[in-house]
Amino acid sequence: VSARRADYARHASLPGGMRVYLRPVRDEDLAHAGEYFAGLSPESRYMRFMCSTPELTPQTLELLKHQLHEGSAAVIAALVNHSGGDEIVGGVRIVPGTKPHHCEFALTVVDRWQGRGVGRVLLTEGIRAARELGYRRIEGVVLAANAKMLGLAQHLRMHVERASPGVMHVYRDLVPLRGRRAQALP
Ligand SMILES: CC(C)(COP(=O)(O)OP(=O)(O)OC[C@H]1O[C@@H](n2cnc3c(N)ncnc32)[C@H](O)[C@@H]1OP(=O)(O)O)[C@@H](O)C(=O)NCCC(=O)NCCS
Repeated sequence: VSARRADYARHASLPGGMRVYLRPVRDEDLAHAGEYFAGLSPESRYMRFMCSTPELTPQTLELLKHQLHEGSAAVIAALVNHSGGDEIVGGVRIVPGTKPHHCEFALTVVDRWQGRGVGRVLLTEGIRAARELGYRRIEGVVLAANAKMLGLAQHLRMHVERASPGVMHVYRDLVPLRGRRAQALP
């Protein structure tokens, strides 16, 4: 019951009025990683993984599993509740960046749920989690062709700069949380 309650503790309303719930990804969710991945079109996979034939490999799953328990990372799922039960429709991952106090985000929403505001809710949550972890900058690498992600980043006050041909760097500096000690600073 308490896990169930925790599932519904954080939520946000989508523009259409539907409610989306946010919670950390758990080990048992990884059993459904294949289903989640199947919900991403080849285009979405390309946008996210930046290669033409990305697959969900055991190595990727192992890394993800490790990150679920890593104090300097946050892996958050967005769920919707409907007659068939809870469905994970998107996720955001915050991991340490290459520079001290910087973190990187990765974001996906399954195709049939894209364009309904889930990405915005998730990235907002990612920014909140990054601040809570004590990071001072959140950044990401986005293909220049990824208009949706660049539009979303700009809506959430991220700077967008060209990193290399066809690749953009997006980032936002984070104001530390007052009155709370940073939990993890790699
Ligand atoms: C990028 C992605 C996460 C966005 O999620 P989403 O749920 O579709 O986005 P939202 O519905 O929350 O849209 C948020 C904002 O994105 C922007 N946006 C959406 N569609 C857009 C489009 N076709 N062109 C430009 N901007 C667009 C808008 O700013 C929109 O704000 P609005 O509510 O004012 O329209 C999702 O499309 C996805 O998973 N893509 C594949 C993986 C990927 O590209 N990940 C990013 C790399 S880290």
